[in-house]
Amino acid sequence: MPDLSINFAGIKAPNPFWLASAPPTNSGYQVMKAFDAGWGGAVWKTLGVPVVNVSSRYGGVNYRDKRLVGFNNIELISDRPLADNLREIEEVKKRFPNHAVIASLMVQSRQEWHDIVRQSQDAGADGFELNFGCPHGMCERGMGSAVGQEPKVLQMIVEWVMEVATKPVIVKLTPNISDITEPALAARRAGANAISLINTIQSIVGVDLDRFAPYPVVDGKGTNGGYCGPAVKPIALNMVKNCAQHPGIKLPISGIGGIENWRDAVEHILLGASSVQVCTAAMHFGFGIIREMAAGLTQYMTDKGFQTIDDMVGRALPNVLHWEDLNMKYKVTANIHAEKCIGCQLCYTACEDGAHQAIRLNAGTRVPEIIEENCVGCNLCSLVCPVEECITMERTDDGTQRLTWKERTAAGTIPTEFNDERAGGRHHWVPAPAAALGKERHKTLPGKARLISGETQVPVTGE
Ligand SMILES: Cc1cc2nc3c(=O)[nH]c(=O)nc-3n(C[C@H](O)[C@H](O)[C@H](O)COP(=O)(O)O)c2cc1C
Ligand code: SF4
Ligand code: SF4
Repeated sequence: MPDLSINFAGIKAPNPFWLASAPPTNSGYQVMKAFDAGWGGAVWKTLGVPVVNVSSRYGGVNYRDKRLVGFNNIELISDRPLADNLREIEEVKKRFPNHAVIASLMVQSRQEWHDIVRQSQDAGADGFELNFGCPHGMCERGMGSAVGQEPKVLQMIVEWVMEVATKPVIVKLTPNISDITEPALAARRAGANAISLINTIQSIVGVDLDRFAPYPVVDGKGTNGGYCGPAVKPIALNMVKNCAQHPGIKLPISGIGGIENWRDAVEHILLGASSVQVCTAAMHFGFGIIREMAAGLTQYMTDKGFQTIDDMVGRALPNVLHWEDLNMKYKVTANIHAEKCIGCQLCYTACEDGAHQAIRLNAGTRVPEIIEENCVGCNLCSLVCPVEECITMERTDDGTQRLTWKERTAAGTIPTEFNDERAGGRHHWVPAPAAALGKERHKTLPGKARLISGETQVPVTGE
């Protein structure tokens, strides 16, 4: 049985699943309920200066039949009295001494930072997360992402915190910056114990077409908010990877962004996170999702032979290269499994209009056919095909050759003409422009036969 427990920068937890600082960690009631359900830790809803929230606060991106693919908020930090929050942190720690309770903090002056760190320490928090990420409301007051976007200011504030902190300090980074490693390096220089990322992405999720205002609408007006949920996972994964691969950072990473199930969590871990945090999924589906997450992670670790979380951390990093280091001699070709095909022909449309005209339709069957010599192996058809494993990408090079762009550059053999065989990529024929129009079409298209319209099969000239 694998061991899910972690020691994250000195903060111990029974498993790597923490609730991110957000509404699910707004109160002791919620955090205790979450721990009872199986969560390993909680980063308390950010404590700091008094704020007032607006109503409404959230916007969502629904995509086709899926609700909240993306989630957006214009909420600020905790609007509950600091004393109440601190008292409840203390109570939670008493009842759950082995779970991680982290105080998320955001204040302004050096004195305020010192005070709130000391107060949270006294309340029994296991560590601190400095919120330098909030992209709305607080940044206008010189806090949140206004700090996260200025590495020098971030470094100064972390140094203030380190002056008094006796518990581990995690710096939470904003993704609203061109190079996430810069604030991460500043956190390292200041002596932080860990980083967490990402906070929300500055966004407008939509516009009310009748009220002419962005969502969420507050008395006929709106503002940019912070984007999160499944839609942001790819951005978060890339940023986690950037920080994990940077040789100058070398800090434990708490991965946040779009984590909804055990697979999402494992992806963050394989790219370098040693704990993960969840917000939107807990808001959407409740604390019960932890059961599937913990069971799925346990099963995955068992299948792969991982004993501890540390065994998995960063396991994918050696395989994340720069483009110039990829093998240009590796080739894949699309393969349609006719027995699975439902004849929707989405693959044909996608390849014909959006890719490389490498799929043909044949009369008498709804099952399209790959024109192998024109398939560049881009994957598009397999991505649009609605049937699992109906289009597979098969390796078609013999595996004996390897050549990268970097090697060609070093050897001084970068291509000087477009038909350079060694240039990499697969060459494909391109129909003449006029072939797009009606009857002209068949004249220039190669292949055995091509269905032009209806049931008419047009033989191709020159075959
Ligand atoms: C409604 C809402 C409120 C949030 N409040 C905070 C906060 O007070 N402090 C903080 O550090 N992050 C806050 N966040 C950001 C989350 O902690 C997290 O970084 C972000 O939502 C990405 O994770 P997710 O994709 O799992 O939602 C908030 C997010 C949401 C949706
Ligand atoms: S998209 Fe898939 S199911 Fe649809 S026609 Fe193409 S191969 Fe068949
Ligand atoms: S992999 Fe790309 S080029 Fe090949 S058939 Fe599919 S869409 Fe066309």
